[in-house]
Amino acid sequence: MEKRSGLNDFVQAAPGYISKVLKENNYARMADKILKFNLKMKRFLSSDYRRINFCKDIDTVSELCYITFADIASEYKNDGGKEGMKKPYIVCHMMTSLDGRIDCAMVGQLTGVEEYYATLGELNLPSTLSGRVTAQLEMALPGTFQAKNGVFIGQERFSKKVDATGYEIVVDTKGTFLWEKETDTAKPHLIITSEQVSKEYLDYLDELHISWIACGKDKIDLKRAAEILAEEFGVERLGIVGGPAINSAFLEAGLLDEVSILIGLGIDGRKGMPGVFDGFPMEKIPTPLKLKDVKTYGNGAVWLRYLV
Ligand SMILES: NC(=O)c1ccc[n+]([C@@H]2O[C@H](COP(=O)([O-])OP(=O)(O)OC[C@H]3O[C@@H](n4cnc5c(N)ncnc54)[C@H](OP(=O)(O)O)[C@@H]3O)[C@@H](O)[C@H]2O)c1
Repeated sequence: MEKRSGLNDFVQAAPGYISKVLKENNYARMADKILKFNLKMKRFLSSDYRRINFCKDIDTVSELCYITFADIASEYKNDGGKEGMKKPYIVCHMMTSLDGRIDCAMVGQLTGVEEYYATLGELNLPSTLSGRVTAQLEMALPGTFQAKNGVFIGQERFSKKVDATGYEIVVDTKGTFLWEKETDTAKPHLIITSEQVSKEYLDYLDELHISWIACGKDKIDLKRAAEILAEEFGVERLGIVGGPAINSAFLEAGLLDEVSILIGLGIDGRKGMPGVFDGFPMEKIPTPLKLKDVKTYGNGAVWLRYLV
């Protein structure tokens, strides 16, 4: 009984305190991980723990502690201790049906879709970023780039063509999209690839006067990309505007500061259609959120904003 209440005290008080100290020192992501660990422990104690005694289950508890703190340590190491890295304030903004589905063709038919760009405007996100699938549907030219010799760049590099107030950012891991010559100076394209992009493709973007960032060995290193966007391109506020794969990758990387959802008036319900976030493993625990704001519109649409 003694041990039980000692553990409870730890679960209740210590992570909150550690988290507060970390936040005060600008270690936001580590603080979030501690809070998530706290939630996991609380769940563990409130269900199974009531029925078993602490000593029998000490292995599970220590395993949970070990996994969590090893995870925190490895993230800290990966950042080279730079938890307070410079990054834009990042908001994931999506329009959904009442059942949280996001297929653009479907949400485009819902009452409330007319508020999408107004809400995006209110969020004040001069730069927005789309996943490759979304960009293929909405932005890129038909066809794919065919490299002749396919020599990879194999190192981190970037090229900034213009100083803009905002960028239309697209992630395209291997450099496949075709684009028109860039003439937009208000919101020019900026392509993010991994280091598995061919030199020829980057030369092609250069010819079109399109800015690019190549970072991450096999896949795009989103944390590093966020840092380069902030430090080299002056991006202070960034909108992640889908789809679910890229939204989830930003969430998983601990880069999202806010989730903004505009709910239109309709139910999708078609089998297998994805939601705002998708593809996490079954053991993922829900990401806790804090409500920031709710707005309702005369047409019945609802706009929800949450801090991550
Ligand atoms: N309702 C809305 O507000 C809204 C907005 C936008 C899109 N959508 C919907 O979203 C759907 C498309 O979403 P989607 O999930 O299929 O694709 P997506 O998120 O648009 O794009 C995913 C692709 O981005 C690339 N990518 C590059 N780096 C990545 C990383 N670190 N992690 C993950 N992906 C990375 C990957 O392709 P490569 O590795 O091959 O480059 C990946 O397959 C469509 O149905 C569209 O209609 C809805």
